[in-house]
Amino acid sequence: MLINRNRPWHLSENAVTPEELYLNRRDFMKAGAALGMMSFLPFPAVAQDAAIKPETSLTYDPAPNIYSTREQHTRYEAATTYTNFYEFGTDKGDAAEKAQKLRTTPWTIEVDGDVVRPGRYDIDDLIDRTQLEERIYRLRCVEAWSMVIPWIGIPLAAVIDRVVPTTKAKYIRFETLYDPQQMPGQRSSVLDWPYVEGLRMDEARHPLALLAVGMYGKELRPQNGAPVRLVVPWKYGFKSIKSIVRISFTRRRPLNSWQKSAPREYGFYANVNPEVDHPRWSQAKERRIGEFFRRPTLMFNGYGEDVASLYSGMNLRKYF
Ligand code: MTE
Repeated sequence: MLINRNRPWHLSENAVTPEELYLNRRDFMKAGAALGMMSFLPFPAVAQDAAIKPETSLTYDPAPNIYSTREQHTRYEAATTYTNFYEFGTDKGDAAEKAQKLRTTPWTIEVDGDVVRPGRYDIDDLIDRTQLEERIYRLRCVEAWSMVIPWIGIPLAAVIDRVVPTTKAKYIRFETLYDPQQMPGQRSSVLDWPYVEGLRMDEARHPLALLAVGMYGKELRPQNGAPVRLVVPWKYGFKSIKSIVRISFTRRRPLNSWQKSAPREYGFYANVNPEVDHPRWSQAKERRIGEFFRRPTLMFNGYGEDVASLYSGMNLRKYF
């Protein structure tokens, strides 16, 4: 399939980051230090072995998806070493260092709530690997950095259709594995474990919402949420919950972990919105990992043409 839809994130080739601006990590660090921008450095000092451990390639439909951006991918090394996965610690390098032994096979997902086919599913019974496709999405973290990742996965809607929620189900709730032995960050009370996220059913069924099992043509690395994570590109990164073990269909809006921990700072919707600041910082700009200059953040992370109608009539300052 050809990418022929005129979307805000379908930049023309000459708008893509020029090669000379796309500094390698060492150059970036040197340049950052020279400019006294140490606090903005995108890479933590972590063990660099994460990117060189054995990796399993995936088979997927290589046709470019209409929802994919043609922007420059974030470098694999960056995407796999600069991560947020509080189950392994709060530093960006913690998960790359401490998640490598996470046992991801066998992996089951409990499906419960208002659903016709509840049960404990093996991951391969929920996610049909013959349907895997690549989606190149931007992910914009609430902390004002962003990246472009070639995800491999299937639309969340395909999984929802497989288990058939009842008409009473208005929301979908996700839970990450709770296993403090494997996930040392869960021994601290930085969040109320397990990590929980949720979406309204119409958001969950939107074709942009993806359940990812891989990135860059390979199985997800543990630090990026192996074996399965959500990717909701028009929302701040914290909605994209990792290492999912439970999917529940609910009548009431789930209380997501970040809203529970700091309700003034993090809401349920968490749509990327440059006009609504985080109480402690502006959301107007972002720094793409690997780039030098900050760029303006786009409403709904640039996916507004597709998703704005989900929120028509809603006050997005109130429902942030
Ligand atoms: N999922 C779980 N279970 N635990 C987390 O700490 N962090 C979130 C999200 N999913 C997080 C999580 C945040 S804040 C972001 S920005 C994204 O994961 C980052 O995804 P990445 O590390 O693969 O870039």
